[in-house]
Amino acid sequence: MQILSVSSLKGGVGKTSVTMGLASAALHRGVKTLVIDLDPHADATTGLNVSRGVGREAGQLLKESRKAKVSDHVVRSGWVDLMDAEQQKDAVLDVVVGSALSATFDRPDIRPRDMKRLKSLLDGVSEYDLVLVDCPPSLSGLTRIAWAASHQVLLVAEPSLFSVAGTERTMRAIRLFANEFAPQLTQAGVVVNRARADSPEHEYRLLEMERLYSDKLLLPVLEENPHWQQIQGAAYPVHQWPGDQVRDMAKSFDEILKQLLPAKSRTS
Ligand SMILES: Nc1ncnc2c1ncn2[C@@H]1O[C@H](COP(=O)(O)OP(=O)(O)O)[C@@H](O)[C@H]1O
Ligand SMILES: [Mg+2]
Repeated sequence: MQILSVSSLKGGVGKTSVTMGLASAALHRGVKTLVIDLDPHADATTGLNVSRGVGREAGQLLKESRKAKVSDHVVRSGWVDLMDAEQQKDAVLDVVVGSALSATFDRPDIRPRDMKRLKSLLDGVSEYDLVLVDCPPSLSGLTRIAWAASHQVLLVAEPSLFSVAGTERTMRAIRLFANEFAPQLTQAGVVVNRARADSPEHEYRLLEMERLYSDKLLLPVLEENPHWQQIQGAAYPVHQWPGDQVRDMAKSFDEILKQLLPAKSRTS
């Protein structure tokens, strides 16, 4: 089971969008997936078409991390119901729902033993191939809780000056965190989101990112897509939305997912 945190220290760059795009790719590839919505804004919960108030949500589970059993509280994503009956049989996309309650753990001075709460919640869990953790945009308690439980951190960045600088800082933070608290933690790479082909500034920043991150840059770059907000608003998986432009976006997520999965699951 691969546990992957989707992070950036900056808000609005597309963490939740990338989490959802990857969840959609995983669902359509038959990869059994759990999404943990650690962001108190709970956007992933909304986008994955899950009703809140069903099962314990992330903040409550973190509070009860010693005795709670994750599998008793996961909720199935409504995306599964959109598939045809044959596909639904093997499809697994579950969600640990988010809510404002998890914000109680988002302190900068979180204690090391609180940092291990998600790790202990996931300790006995083995029914998924992939766990995606949608993180809030800071390096406070919740992101540390996510990183302590993860094998890899996937960074999301926009091709803009501040985002490039923020990504550098986050990479440094991951290295320091791994040294001190999480020896298993590695960097999965950087996904560039919301690139515009007609923007010279974006082109310049993309070249800069290629130079800075080289092998850590995960391709293809995700383009700014005019349909994206509508897809999210409808709480739909990108793989089920019609139209060529959206199909290309779905394919980009397929490509990125392939690079993130362990080698043995990449072949199909
Ligand atoms: N590739 C994209 N094309 C168009 N809009 C996007 C794209 N990626 C994200 N967005 C929009 O940008 C906003 C912020 O994205 P979100 O995924 O919520 O960021 P984060 O989770 O990092 O705060 C959302 O309204 C989302 O719909
Ligand atoms: Mg988000």
